[in-house]
Amino acid sequence: MTQQTVIAVVGSGYVGLVSAACFAEIGHRVICVDNDEEKVRLLNEGGVPIHEEYLPEMLGRHRRGSIEFTTDLHAAAAQAQAIFISVGTPQSDTGDADLSYVDVVASEIARSIDGYKVIVEKSTVPVYTNEWITRILERNGASRESFDVVSNPEFLREGTGVTDFLHPNRVVIGVESERAAKVMRRIYEPLTSGEYYNLPHAVPGGRTASNPPPLLQMSTKAAELTKHATNAFLAMKISFINAVANICDAAGVNVEEVAEGVGMDDRIGPKFLRAGIGYGGSCFPKDVAAFRWVAEQLGQQFDLLAEVEKINSQQKKLFFRKIRSALWTLRGKNLAVFGLAFKGGTDDIRESPAIDIVQMLLKEGCSVTLYDPAAMERAKTVLAPGPQVQYASDMYEAARDAHAALVLCDWQEFAAVDLDRLRDALRHPIVIDGRNLFDPDAMLEKGFTYFSVGRPHSASNAKVLKSI
Ligand code: UGA
Repeated sequence: MTQQTVIAVVGSGYVGLVSAACFAEIGHRVICVDNDEEKVRLLNEGGVPIHEEYLPEMLGRHRRGSIEFTTDLHAAAAQAQAIFISVGTPQSDTGDADLSYVDVVASEIARSIDGYKVIVEKSTVPVYTNEWITRILERNGASRESFDVVSNPEFLREGTGVTDFLHPNRVVIGVESERAAKVMRRIYEPLTSGEYYNLPHAVPGGRTASNPPPLLQMSTKAAELTKHATNAFLAMKISFINAVANICDAAGVNVEEVAEGVGMDDRIGPKFLRAGIGYGGSCFPKDVAAFRWVAEQLGQQFDLLAEVEKINSQQKKLFFRKIRSALWTLRGKNLAVFGLAFKGGTDDIRESPAIDIVQMLLKEGCSVTLYDPAAMERAKTVLAPGPQVQYASDMYEAARDAHAALVLCDWQEFAAVDLDRLRDALRHPIVIDGRNLFDPDAMLEKGFTYFSVGRPHSASNAKVLKSI
């Protein structure tokens, strides 16, 4: 049986909260710390501040047992054997990561150290951050023998974070001492030994007891770079397929056929080759910029990443142009918008291409009726309801009497829409799909004029020209 470790997780955002719940799930005692009193109160009362599959059930199972929530970092750090730092590392004006929250937390931890602790960077941070954390801890009075700093990057996607944590491709730990490595191996042992997957309540996923995840041990700097390089590569894959999609658009070819052909080469792989309106979220945009900054600081030009960013921002503009060419003029048009989050399956709107596109439409004098299964409350903070902006409680209400519908997120619910009901609700049967959720032939058969990304558009022209 795996030995229980007492773990403090500092920061209850998407990464911190999911990691904390998963550490409790695999048998550890977890103290979750956040300085947001309101959030801690909500968590203690049984609330869940973010939309994540399996998270409510898991917190329900472990709350008042092996997981607790507090604002008291000092007490949590004093009790814990390992302290995970999962606070935000937002992008600063110059493109680098703003590490001031990490700095504050590290200083405070230093003042609570009363025995050996492993301090773990879980936030995405530039190479050399572990050395800075070490320096901050020492400056604030922690003796060098009383701690080790470890890098343990996460590869969690929002929405599927719990499954990604419990069924990882790999667990990466960057360590410089065997003492710290031992603690880290013990923490992940329920997964790496396969023990967790035999539990009756185990969350289902790709890993099994006979196929557990590997644990990769490397230097702390290598682990930090692994995280940035992984996100930058994934962002590059998306920009690459988007650039190919634009060529497909011009050549009248279906990008999905090309992506399938390319992705079957197992040196490339089929994932992250979905063309669309570009990547968003709290990670890729920030991490690509930060990695480029890191390279520059080390005297290396990583211009490839500048190109990745350029393609990504152009993708929204190209989609906007597509809307314009489908509708001819925009002023005074009412559009139904499906999806506001940066992708389906989450309520997160940070760096959401959908929000940017809606803002472009508003500038052009359109009015919009918005629907998203989870992100509407958050969206209202940036797109306030008013004469130009309405919110609907489902897709059909949003579509009622609209000049066209836009698909900006890949929610499963959208793909499962009743197309007959949608067509009947719209004033004109036009769908402009930024996520390629529908089959162009099926849309044509249903009487839609349908535009998507990198796929020949299908128009039941007679009907549209008549109705416009
Ligand atoms: C991403 C990574 O996938 C995680 O491995 C990583 O841990 C995380 O960032 C992080 O650094 O914390 P996430 O931002 O939750 O996870 O979202 P993804 O599922 O990777 O999607 C990112 C964006 O790319 C979304 O806007 C999505 O719509 C877009 N995307 C993704 C595409 O446009 N095409 C694709 O084929 C895949």
